Amino acid sequence: MAKERIITASEGGTSEERAFNVSLRPQRLTEYTGQPKLTEKLDITLQAVKARQEPMEHVLLHGPPGLGKTTLAHIIANEMETHLTVTAGPALTKPGDLVGILTKLGEGDVLFVDEIHRLQISLEEYLYSAMEDFKIDVQIDQGMHAKTITLPVKPFTLIGATTRAGMISGPMRSRFGITHNLEFYSEADLLKILQRSAGLMGVLDVGDSNHVLEALGAIASRSRGTPRIANRLLRRVRDFTQVKAGGTLTPAVVDAALALEGVDGLGIDDLDRKYMNVIAGVYEGGPVGLEAIAATLGEDAGTLEEVVEPYLLQIGFLARTRKGRQLTSAAGKHLGLKISTDQTPADLFD
Ligand SMILES: Nc1ncnc2c1ncn2[C@@H]1O[C@H](COP(=O)(O)OP(=O)(O)O)[C@@H](O)[C@H]1O
Ligand SMILES: [Mg+2]
Repeated sequence: MAKERIITASEGGTSEERAFNVSLRPQRLTEYTGQPKLTEKLDITLQAVKARQEPMEHVLLHGPPGLGKTTLAHIIANEMETHLTVTAGPALTKPGDLVGILTKLGEGDVLFVDEIHRLQISLEEYLYSAMEDFKIDVQIDQGMHAKTITLPVKPFTLIGATTRAGMISGPMRSRFGITHNLEFYSEADLLKILQRSAGLMGVLDVGDSNHVLEALGAIASRSRGTPRIANRLLRRVRDFTQVKAGGTLTPAVVDAALALEGVDGLGIDDLDRKYMNVIAGVYEGGPVGLEAIAATLGEDAGTLEEVVEPYLLQIGFLARTRKGRQLTSAAGKHLGLKISTDQTPADLFD
């Protein structure tokens, strides 16, 4: 098996790593760093519905992996002091799966459906009537004996998460009271998250505190705007510090630890470099279709689109043009390659 991509924001990892993520997860809205527009919207709505003793509005969150969607579902359930049920689009394969979950929900409960874009279309109908009318029509038996029974669903809150906003149907989207696109985090916000995590992990006790702060800043700038990556890098740095640096955490130790993982000063890792090298080397800098890049790399196009491209777009290394993906001269400069075919603004679309 290929070495796990340390920079990847997808959940993955060992069960120990997942447990570690859960232990660092903020429990309350006030502990949730960054995303100020979203947290303000949620704070107002939470206060309003609590005062009216109503369930929270349905919330749809989209954005790249690792930005805190699952965390928010847990926080909303905590703030509402209700029970959270967690499922995911691909886990629901037949109507009975969804109907069972919906009819078991208590009043005001929160149902979190991760990867909601992968929910089967035939199941969407059940979700719609449950969300809107708090009932579901279930057909029992077939042919001559077929009949429909209506099952009540207690007023509940659906929180949907997706990494692919474009794959959510119009009817689905329109049923959410709050829809929000999570953004990459600033370095300042990532530093705050790292300070909190380092405190919880006991890293702050290690070495001189000024050095520690600088070192955490060095991790923040390599975290691709993503809290999950920041926490994961922190863990690797902590181990390296303990084993290779006599327990003293400094920016130089961060450099050494992350160089070992193939992560450079911008958080660019091996897979990013491979992706960009394919466009530069095989396709002369682009434009080239995603499928062609994926085939050349032997990687899944969806993974590249979800995990590699958003950050490269964000830092201006990649442009999406009508004719396909194109590297920018900034990417060429970073990689030490010459990219001659920079796109003109007229080629850009979004
Ligand atoms: N706003 C935030 N403040 C602090 N930590 C966060 C924040 N967002 C995410 N995290 C951390 O990052 C990890 C990944 O977040 P998660 O909610 O699982 O991301 P997503 O569901 O969007 O993939 C969590 O374990 C949590 O510790
Ligand atoms: Mg998640």
